[in-house]
Amino acid sequence: MSHLVADYINRSDARPWNVLRDFQWEDIRAEKLTKSQRSAVSFITFIEDHLPGYFAIYQNSFPVHHEVDLEEFIHNREVYHFAVRWAQEEDAHAHVLQTYQVRAGLASEDDLRRDLAIEGRKLFSLDYVHPVQHFTYTLVQEKATQIYYQKFSQVVDEPVLKNILQCLIRDESRHFAFFSTVVEAYIKRFGAAIIPQLKEVLVNFKMPLAQTLKNYWRWSLRVAEVANSYDHTEAFESLIRVVKRAADAPTWSKSQDLADFVGAVRAA
Ligand SMILES: [Fe+2]
Ligand SMILES: [Fe+2]
Repeated sequence: MSHLVADYINRSDARPWNVLRDFQWEDIRAEKLTKSQRSAVSFITFIEDHLPGYFAIYQNSFPVHHEVDLEEFIHNREVYHFAVRWAQEEDAHAHVLQTYQVRAGLASEDDLRRDLAIEGRKLFSLDYVHPVQHFTYTLVQEKATQIYYQKFSQVVDEPVLKNILQCLIRDESRHFAFFSTVVEAYIKRFGAAIIPQLKEVLVNFKMPLAQTLKNYWRWSLRVAEVANSYDHTEAFESLIRVVKRAADAPTWSKSQDLADFVGAVRAA
């Protein structure tokens, strides 16, 4: 874990943007946004803004306090080095989208803050037992958001939003790369024995807020349509690639396990 986190931190030094300083807010041309695009911006702001609940899950699942065994603490402390940086970046995503909505006149500051709080304070939970399940879930989610932002940015003409989306795409792809290396390392270490844990994540996969956000299902279908018929299950293919890459490791008892896994992912 320490090597993977160090790699991530090395790559993150190039992170180039500041939420408030680095966008030309006065260049916003809100009239270039369609009604559906405005709705999509609102949706992704809610999704990014669930970060406090998500970060809390990482803190609970990888605890660093006096009751934790020394060995587990050592591992979790490494995860923490990553998690605080990741959370800071995800928080910037929520913050920049919130700021954009206000600067573009899509929402009033007070109303938006209140609306985000109404959704943000709802309980967000993931019932995973094994650490690799958290990493797998986030891997898929990072890839899904990266794909969504790519597709959305292709249809957006409003220049400031386009810039923001480019920044988010770069961050999400770095996040995805980190979680890929972690999941790959778990598979190499534990071999096919870990596959049932991964399967469980995919079979029950739901995007964050699917259970709590008002009108989530109808709204998410409309939001997908705006971005060239985005489909979050495309992200599952990236997990298959990670597993196949890891399956080259010598610890892996090849064959049927991999085929079963790929079958289960495709079915999911
Ligand atoms: Fe994000
Ligand atoms: Fe991310």
